Amino acid sequence: MRTQVGIVGAGPAGLMLSHLLHLVGIESIIVENRSRAYCEARVRAGLMEDWVTKLLTETGVGARMQREGLPHDGIYMTFNGELRHIDFYKLVGKRVTIYGQQEVVKDLIARRLADGGEIHFEVTDTSIQDFSTDKPKIRFRHQGRAKEIDCDIIAGCDGFHGVSRSEFPSGVRRDYDRVYPFGWLGILAEAKPVEDELIYAYHPHGFALFSMRGPKVVRYYIQCKPDERLDDWSDEKIWDELETRLGGVRPLPRGPVIERIVAPMRSFACEPMQTGRLFIAGDAAHIVPPTGAKGMNLAMADVRVLSRAIEAFIKSKRNDLLESYSKTCLKRIWKAQRFSWWMTQMLHRYHGESEFDAFDMKRQIAEIDYVTGSEAAMTSLAENYTGLPME
Ligand code: PHB
Repeated sequence: MRTQVGIVGAGPAGLMLSHLLHLVGIESIIVENRSRAYCEARVRAGLMEDWVTKLLTETGVGARMQREGLPHDGIYMTFNGELRHIDFYKLVGKRVTIYGQQEVVKDLIARRLADGGEIHFEVTDTSIQDFSTDKPKIRFRHQGRAKEIDCDIIAGCDGFHGVSRSEFPSGVRRDYDRVYPFGWLGILAEAKPVEDELIYAYHPHGFALFSMRGPKVVRYYIQCKPDERLDDWSDEKIWDELETRLGGVRPLPRGPVIERIVAPMRSFACEPMQTGRLFIAGDAAHIVPPTGAKGMNLAMADVRVLSRAIEAFIKSKRNDLLESYSKTCLKRIWKAQRFSWWMTQMLHRYHGESEFDAFDMKRQIAEIDYVTGSEAAMTSLAENYTGLPME
């Protein structure tokens, strides 16, 4: 097989890249080791910055998001039994939209296939070859047969545990890693939303978050141990703990829990995001803790930069944008890293981590009080949360 851009991974980054390239007449093929059904069902955070909703709409894949996405003008923060609102729209004139990542994936897969795009699901033994030459290849097996794709460029969009990043020759890449001493227990439940906006809660027991997926489906998160056992959490225990951390203002409407996960928390970035003709994007290159809701947004930002750089390379033989890909993306990535870390350290309890625990609690409460009380501080949060300018 031969294509212009070989893409590893059919998550939001790989699919959006393939879509953006198609719109400018560039061919790509995606290989993905999971099944289509798995990709379309994989529940992840789902909060989109203002410019991402516009990108989906402007590139013709935003129709369902426009109908089903939930626009949010702000967020709440709660601490010491108080509920405070930060009004993004009033402060910076921008909103965010809740639309599950798997819904974006469904829309993009459907559109790629309708446009004649090639996606090979359930491949195995994927490897990336010869990316230090101008004829890189992707090798894989599909239905028992060995296959090869010759390309001009390879995009590694295969997530944090994918093969792409690990293919970098030793010494090329530097990793920046921070693992947090906690995780999030996340649930999806059939219950009414308790509020019209998300609520980020600081509580002596730890962080909690209320989010939603629709008028009858809610998403909640509870700070827990990084290796917390789901078996230890009955529905009742989950609701009781959420009530304690979040319900101070009013009781939480309860309902059956339909899905639960435990996610560890880390901040990770690598530099550079390129070696030869291999470019990595999205979670393959960086991970942020979900407190800042930046994961999918960063993936979209990377592939927007990459698609333009590839277009300049293929159509005008210009190398400069490909060469600056990594640097351009990393400027945004480090600001998102900073914001995600900052939200995380402000809102989580670091039990037993620090002998200064009591001091830290006072400091955190003062910070949340400041961030929800000062117009200057709220504006800074709003600007970061709704998405820094792209250019
Ligand atoms: C979610 O709705 O899943 C969500 C929202 C905001 C976050 C994290 C997750 O910060």
